[in-house]
Amino acid sequence: MMSETAPLASLDQWEDDVLSRYPEPEHKSKEDYRNYDSPERDTVREFYRLNHTYQTYDFVREKEREFLAFDKKELPVWGAMEFLNTLVDDSDPDTDLDQLQHLLQTAEAIRADGHPDWFVLTGFLHDMGKVLCLFGEPQWAVVGDTFPVGCKHSDKIVYSEYFVNNPDAHDERYNTKYGVYEPNCGLRNVHMSWGHDEYLYQIMKNYMPEPALYMMRYHSFYSQHREGAYDHLMDAHDHEMFKWVNKFNPYDLYSKSPKPPVVSELKPYYEDLIAKYLPATLRL
Ligand SMILES: [Fe+2]
Ligand SMILES: [Fe+2]
Repeated sequence: MMSETAPLASLDQWEDDVLSRYPEPEHKSKEDYRNYDSPERDTVREFYRLNHTYQTYDFVREKEREFLAFDKKELPVWGAMEFLNTLVDDSDPDTDLDQLQHLLQTAEAIRADGHPDWFVLTGFLHDMGKVLCLFGEPQWAVVGDTFPVGCKHSDKIVYSEYFVNNPDAHDERYNTKYGVYEPNCGLRNVHMSWGHDEYLYQIMKNYMPEPALYMMRYHSFYSQHREGAYDHLMDAHDHEMFKWVNKFNPYDLYSKSPKPPVVSELKPYYEDLIAKYLPATLRL
């Protein structure tokens, strides 16, 4: 019996599923991934059923009130990363990387390509918002592809058929093309489904350069950065900034290597980067 809080054996199952949807172009050809039968696929499907059923406009506003008070914890940045790494799920210790290893691999791949240091730091921080799991949030309110709430759900969103279960899909305030928004109002005016992207953006918004903030805030918004499904809500500035989101995405998806990074060797470099851009402690 799958639980509604944690249908996935590990958060990695969502990321593995994204990778099978968007394989690295030069390496694999895209198969019809849904015809692929596996127990993991069933848990991912169940995960999306819950996500699409419960992520309503009201749910998102409620989570914003709850978490954007930042009254849960105060930690140094590296301490927040160690806190994130206490997230133990049923991932396979032989093949799966822990959260800190994924973040370091992403950041190191960005560094190896000679990008600016704030881009490297973004790679290191981008999944820190997953600490939401440690505050007891269900998986479907932490990870998963994100999408705008308060307007019609695009059929380009993965498993969009499950939105039939979402009350907003039957509410005329929220089920039209623009819903509560104006045409091309800009994503800064749009509420996204709640999860680790928005939470991290809100933690970091006073400290990092704007392209970094876009990468953090929209890295799971696949229906836009891969499918262009919400051009009608974006403004020209969003399109400019999404060039950075697109630049970031391959590092997130394709930097996973079975060779784990040596944390102790890398820590001094990242502690310096943290000190350059971020305050001594963060309020979560
Ligand atoms: Fe992420
Ligand atoms: Fe990631």
